Amino acid sequence: MTKRILSGMRPTGKLHIGHHVGALENWVNLQKEYNNFHLIADYHVLTTNTDTSDIYKNTIEMVKDWVAAGIDPAQSPIFRQSQIKEHAELHLLFSMLITTARLERNPSLKEQVRDLKLDNISYGHFGYPVLQAADILLYKGELVPVGEDQTSHVEITREIARKFNKTYGKIFIEPKAKLTKFSRLPGLDGKTKMSKSLGNTISPSDSPEEIWQSVRKAITDTEKIRKNDPGHPEVCTIFTYHNVFNKNSVKQIERDCKSGILGCVDCKKICAKKISDHFAEYRNKRSEFDKKPDLIKDILNDGEKRAKQVAQETMKEVREVMKIG
Ligand code: TRP
Repeated sequence: MTKRILSGMRPTGKLHIGHHVGALENWVNLQKEYNNFHLIADYHVLTTNTDTSDIYKNTIEMVKDWVAAGIDPAQSPIFRQSQIKEHAELHLLFSMLITTARLERNPSLKEQVRDLKLDNISYGHFGYPVLQAADILLYKGELVPVGEDQTSHVEITREIARKFNKTYGKIFIEPKAKLTKFSRLPGLDGKTKMSKSLGNTISPSDSPEEIWQSVRKAITDTEKIRKNDPGHPEVCTIFTYHNVFNKNSVKQIERDCKSGILGCVDCKKICAKKISDHFAEYRNKRSEFDKKPDLIKDILNDGEKRAKQVAQETMKEVREVMKIG
């Protein structure tokens, strides 16, 4: 049987190009080989923001992005966590199988507390990885495509699966993280991470002119002041983008930057063009979805029906082995 992949993302609205090359394009490729389930982690949004007013709108925008990027909803169901009650049920049962000491050691929680400058966190936020474990195991996902920052959650999922199997009966497979190649694209300001909250992103649905305007302002090698100064591609954000979007010419760009033949403005022009070409097909498809909002609702309805079936089967097994059937 084909292995099942469970991938998930929080609906935070339109995705930037970092999400595309870091996660989405990987999901699209995996679709050819595996049986994929795509989860919209709308409950997870509540861990850091209890305001629900944008969740639905952001979900719709994110699904448009997924499908325009090449996720085929007929093949791979797309569904919201909040519409399938079994997530909450399994989360509750799993919460008894992990200690608070273990959750306190979770490095990604520590990072979040630091980055968001939180002085206290909710009980639900603390249990974030337990809900993620329920997301994965409910569909018996064997592989979970994630970036480096999420591997600790997959590890917790494995521990919960093991504990459950030992306590009640072996019904879960321990899933593995499938690391993505480009986990992070740097931001336009040269910061290590492209992120909407830092305001340093490029949107793939921007027009070629808008992409050029963003790239034009990007921070490059600060020691290359005049056009013919020799550059240092290894410290340049734009060079990182060439590495991703202009693979065939990246060696030439490196040579010409170092020797001083290629100035930053021309280098940026090439880069902006490559980025906008990369997303040309995506832009076309996405504008089609903007014209047909009902299509996205149909995709969710269908995905949720299919996901629910699998979730219900798993919960039946869980209740049976726990003798609470
Ligand atoms: N924790 C993930 C994130 O913040 C989102 C997520 C929720 C997820 N459930 C998942 C990812 C299940 C993979 C599998 O990005």
